[in-house]
Amino acid sequence: MSSEKNKQAAAEAALTLIETGDVVGVGTGSTANFFIDGLAKVKGKIDGAVASSKASAERLKQHGIEVLSLNDAGQLRIYVDGADESTRHLHLIKGGGGALTQEKIVAQASDQFICIADASKLVDRLGTFPLPIEVIPMAQSVVARSIVKLGGQPSLRSGYTTDNGNIILDAKNLDILDPVEMETLINQIPGVVTVGIFAHRGANKLLLAGDNGVEILTV
Ligand code: 5RP
Repeated sequence: MSSEKNKQAAAEAALTLIETGDVVGVGTGSTANFFIDGLAKVKGKIDGAVASSKASAERLKQHGIEVLSLNDAGQLRIYVDGADESTRHLHLIKGGGGALTQEKIVAQASDQFICIADASKLVDRLGTFPLPIEVIPMAQSVVARSIVKLGGQPSLRSGYTTDNGNIILDAKNLDILDPVEMETLINQIPGVVTVGIFAHRGANKLLLAGDNGVEILTV
């Protein structure tokens, strides 16, 4: 099966976890888009959604799904989102689509983070995918120098501004042996808004779709 078909299969598996009356936390990206399109078919069952990006909010609204602010919605039961990489410990790299900050906020506000992905996203160790870091624009150089000191090679995502008005540095070659420690280290650099390692709050379940179906990984 193509990776697009697998993304769709993972998204459809997540739809079976949606319960009547849920306000659903919704991620960003091509896998999350399959989930949004599926959610449209069960929209009568849910009380709305909280989006992790302007793009996802727009897609939800186009399907006639009410989009609530996280402040109005409060704690969510379930958040569904894709990832750029996941380990078997369900530590993730996210932010390929640039929405990492709001994704981390909605994940933090949710009881269950269900990650949906095609099988190519499973890795033994994080870091082949360049690590996205959202940075306040004036801090670009100072943060970049700090990333170099950690052994990384940061580059500016050119022509891109996040929904929060910031820039993204994509860092190659970081040795992410301990994802929790690396997340803490990078988050402590002044000017960093969010690092795209989701380890302190990783996923609760990974629905991983491959050619033999959808495997469910939990921690
Ligand atoms: C967006 C993300 C996405 O979840 C991640 O980039 C995966 O995207 P896709 O589902 O298109 O492969 O973190 O910020």
